Amino acid sequence: MIGRLNHVAIAVHDIDKAAKVYRETLSAEVSGKVPLPEHGVTTVFVILPNTKIELLEPLGDKSPLTKFLERNADGGIHHICYEVDDIIAARDQLKAKGARVLGDGQPKIGAHGKPVLFLHPKDFCGTLVELEQT
Ligand code: CO
Repeated sequence: MIGRLNHVAIAVHDIDKAAKVYRETLSAEVSGKVPLPEHGVTTVFVILPNTKIELLEPLGDKSPLTKFLERNADGGIHHICYEVDDIIAARDQLKAKGARVLGDGQPKIGAHGKPVLFLHPKDFCGTLVELEQT
């Protein structure tokens, strides 16, 4: 069902500082900042030859990153994103296998303008999983 690794997301307190680390220290290609108020995050993408790194900074009062950053003072890996061909079919197969889909179970439009869903970390080896339809 899952296909390619689309990205690994890293939550940070200061996205400008994090982008600078990737751009200047690691000499990677780094995108501009994109605020996603619906998701409570600002994103920057680091483009690597085989995948991407999504840098995430909290946006607004109800950001899903707030608790994570309270527990991880230096920031840390927040989720991994796998590509799927059909997000509704994937969701229904996963639910039938007992996996929990977060939120209302309806895909939202993610950072790339494509539908995404998140799966409960307790069902996936302690890792928050994002699915993105490609
Ligand atoms: Co993501």
